[in-house]
Amino acid sequence: MRVVIMGGTSGIGLAAAELLAADGAEVIVTGRDAERLAAVKDRVGSAEQVDGTDESAVTGFFERVGVFDHLVLAFSPGALGLGPLADVSLADIKGAFDGKLFPYLFAVQKAQVTGSVTVVSAATARAAVPGTVTLAAVNGAVERIVPPLAVELAPVRVNAVAPGAIDTPWWSFLPEETREAQFAAAAEGLPAKRVGAPEDVAEAIRYLIGSTYVTGTILPVDGGFTVS
Ligand SMILES: NC(=O)c1ccc[n+]([C@@H]2O[C@H](COP(=O)([O-])OP(=O)(O)OC[C@H]3O[C@@H](n4cnc5c(N)ncnc54)[C@H](OP(=O)(O)O)[C@@H]3O)[C@@H](O)[C@H]2O)c1
Repeated sequence: MRVVIMGGTSGIGLAAAELLAADGAEVIVTGRDAERLAAVKDRVGSAEQVDGTDESAVTGFFERVGVFDHLVLAFSPGALGLGPLADVSLADIKGAFDGKLFPYLFAVQKAQVTGSVTVVSAATARAAVPGTVTLAAVNGAVERIVPPLAVELAPVRVNAVAPGAIDTPWWSFLPEETREAQFAAAAEGLPAKRVGAPEDVAEAIRYLIGSTYVTGTILPVDGGFTVS
């Protein structure tokens, strides 16, 4: 089984890569930072420097990879666009879409994938958290492409995994103390009573890849955030 994970050198993508590699899959991860790529190469199989927003790089990458089984799209421009809408610039709103929705669509256009596509969205897409309008818009769009794509690409299956707060470097824009305080407060309000680990989402990605009767779904992995 050959799996491509774009955004696989950190956090959720890396955890999924390690889990699938341990299962015996041939995993190719991509990312931009050369040091991160070098650090994970031996842990996951192979690692290629590909900026997911660079159309010619992505086109060349998928030509080199050829036909493969499963695609996981796990990258984003981080917290770009976070904050009350009144305080967010239009450039950042556009950047949030340019860094996730459009490159996800482009990757799906170029990938010669035969088994499944799993996109990583976010629980904020279906919540009402002040300060997340841009992230909700981007991830809401990422989730809404799933049902029609599942029909268009059939028999290739298409699903989304929708994480809640997951302790990854995505949060590194916050000073450590602030981050810990936010995580503690978030954990208190969650049915699961903890924030998520990247491995929690990786397990869901593995499930979606392996479940041949599951397509067109959004799978929340949010500790109960969206139901509480
Ligand atoms: N962590 C959370 O609480 C949370 C919650 C909801 C949803 N999510 C979503 O989960 C996904 C994974 O996030 P994460 O928490 O695992 O973040 P992360 O730890 O920051 O990992 C992001 C990964 O994407 C890569 N990446 C970023 N921009 C890229 C680009 N243009 N082209 C190729 N690779 C790129 C990064 O490597 P380089 O920087 O070296 O390129 C890294 O490997 C994202 O879509 C995010 O929106 C996260």
